[in-house]
Amino acid sequence: MSLSLPDDPLAIEHHHRLKAYINAQIQQAGGAISFQAFMESALYAPQLGYYSAGMRKFGAGGDFVTAPELSALFSQCLAKQCQAVLNSVENGVIIEFGAGTGIMATDILRSLAQWDCLPSRYYIVELSPSLQQVQQETLKSQVPELFSRVEWLQQLPSEPVQGVILANEVLDAMPVQRFQLTDDDVLAFYVTAEMDIFQWQTRSTNDNVLRQQVEALRPLLPVGYTSEINPTLSAWVQSLADILEKGLAILIDYGFPRAEYYHPQRHQGTLMCHYRHQAHGDPLILVGLQDITAHVDFTAVAEATIGTDWNVAGYTNQANFLLSLGLMEALAQYQADEVRYYNMSQAVKRLLLPSEMGELFKVIGLSKHLDISLAGFTLDQRGRL
Ligand SMILES: C[S@@+](CC[C@H](N)C(=O)[O-])C[C@H]1O[C@@H](n2cnc3c(N)ncnc32)[C@H](O)[C@@H]1O
Repeated sequence: MSLSLPDDPLAIEHHHRLKAYINAQIQQAGGAISFQAFMESALYAPQLGYYSAGMRKFGAGGDFVTAPELSALFSQCLAKQCQAVLNSVENGVIIEFGAGTGIMATDILRSLAQWDCLPSRYYIVELSPSLQQVQQETLKSQVPELFSRVEWLQQLPSEPVQGVILANEVLDAMPVQRFQLTDDDVLAFYVTAEMDIFQWQTRSTNDNVLRQQVEALRPLLPVGYTSEINPTLSAWVQSLADILEKGLAILIDYGFPRAEYYHPQRHQGTLMCHYRHQAHGDPLILVGLQDITAHVDFTAVAEATIGTDWNVAGYTNQANFLLSLGLMEALAQYQADEVRYYNMSQAVKRLLLPSEMGELFKVIGLSKHLDISLAGFTLDQRGRL
């Protein structure tokens, strides 16, 4: 496996500029920054971070492939669930977070148009200006007649709305804190720069919230255990509750319920980097050129609803979710076209197989004042959270 810098001089220059930017942050902070601050800059530093800069990330020529990129049938199933919600709210909208290339929005809108159930607006909340541009190009070229319905936002709409909130592989891209448990302390991971190379440093944490959260996990964890916590997850889930008057949020990502997330076997945590379709665990190299992710603790997502109007409406894995929404029936429609059917079947396998995305990816549904049955969660596993 080669994790060396690419040949492309532009990519190398970009990497060095981001390194210099993070280095300056480290010097300003007196020699070290938290891993959360490092991940924030590595992914989202204005014009420089992995997601903020304009390089190709998605698909065969990029670093990773996401479910909506694999097959339009994924988005068609999601559209089915959206349709049920849009039919039971007033003037319903869809809000999609972190929309990648815009292909999921394209395929969802296409299906909803066919079923005569379009949302009044399709909002995309996207932090990255360069991704916004890619999304606009995709939507404009693929569904020009629906383009005027789509609106890009840097943050949530200011007025409450009814409808559906979608986030596919967004939670895993949020900066996390990394910790290690000792027999009498909680250490936080920091990043230093020595001889132009980023290095780990651990020290006793002075962050009381992190300490409390990790101490609460102590009964699950052996001494020496290293892992991550997403400190912004709870506020993010609550902010969605503030804006959605009635409807459903569907959050899809790789992750586990807490007992599996903090399983003794995962004692080095869940950080995962993606560079040219290679997955590895070192976020301190290839800055700006690789994606950095952490798995999602879905119990934490469910807990974030406590004290809000959210109801955890369902939790299941991706395979169950898609099968319950008619993935195989949708695929069968293409049987007459042998080549197309074969290619689509290969993509469907990747979406469903336990060794691929079917089991590792989970779907959680958070509903608010919604009194309908949700087909996607027919095989409900909320008991595992
Ligand atoms: C792995 S990509 C997933 C893209 C797309 N949803 C897909 O499935 O192909 C992660 C996306 O999440 C976005 N993101 C991360 N945190 C976000 C936040 N707080 N609000 C909006 N987007 C966010 C990133 O900018 C990036 O576009």
